[in-house]
Amino acid sequence: MSRGKKIYEGKAKILYEGPEPGTLIAHFKDDATAFNNQKHGQIEGKGVLNNRISELLMTRLEEVGVPTHFIKRLNMREQLVHKVEIIPLEMVCRNVAAGSICKRFGLKEGEKLPRPIIEYYFKDDELGDPLVSEDHIAAFGWAAPQEMDDMIAMTFRVNDFLSGLFGAIGIRLVDFKLEFGRQFEGDMVRTILADEISPDSCRLWDIKSNRKLDKDRFRQDLGDVPEAYAEVARRLGVLKGVANLKIVSKETAK
Ligand code: TMP
Repeated sequence: MSRGKKIYEGKAKILYEGPEPGTLIAHFKDDATAFNNQKHGQIEGKGVLNNRISELLMTRLEEVGVPTHFIKRLNMREQLVHKVEIIPLEMVCRNVAAGSICKRFGLKEGEKLPRPIIEYYFKDDELGDPLVSEDHIAAFGWAAPQEMDDMIAMTFRVNDFLSGLFGAIGIRLVDFKLEFGRQFEGDMVRTILADEISPDSCRLWDIKSNRKLDKDRFRQDLGDVPEAYAEVARRLGVLKGVANLKIVSKETAK
């Protein structure tokens, strides 16, 4: 499939123009960053694994009625997606305390939250993606009230569905981050799930041992990073096509 010109390069993905108007090709890189770009590394095979994992999760979500940008996987590192205008918010949903919420409220990692909690972060690397309120979002016009309602409903739906899907393979969905975009079709616009869902954007713990199977292994220098991503892919049943993948991690502190 013909790949058009590069239109954007992010920390973990490159976007190219797609073969038809309204489409893009997302290329998944092995690069990993943490703490707003202060820590850099390469997780060998991550791009291949995240391409497969995100393909599977987006496909399942589409089947249960969550509209996504995913069209089809093209090869080991690339997928065809609908072009969207990204809404500049990170929608984080948390079931168990971990990461920044522990620092913010003095919670112990692993504490079950009273109920799933959604937080909004303004997508801006220079500002370090600050936590924002619904009123900031409305006042600055980052998302319309209807878009917020849609994103909140879809985020809870994704949480319910993925908690069950991961639970069935012995993985606890601790928290995750979603991004949404506006898809324009004629004079219609709809809000759809975009970006990726992978161990880069979720916290995933083994239910029995609480072993971390996500990017926290990279953030916290826990080792066996590619192995953890491969373990998630294996349990999801998407490792078959990538059996020859060399699994090695390389990390460099900036
Ligand atoms: P946090 O605890 O660091 O706020 O992260 C919450 C969730 O969001 C966690 O699953 C990791 C994910 N996340 C991203 O995908 N990208 C980011 O830039 C950050 C800070 C978190």
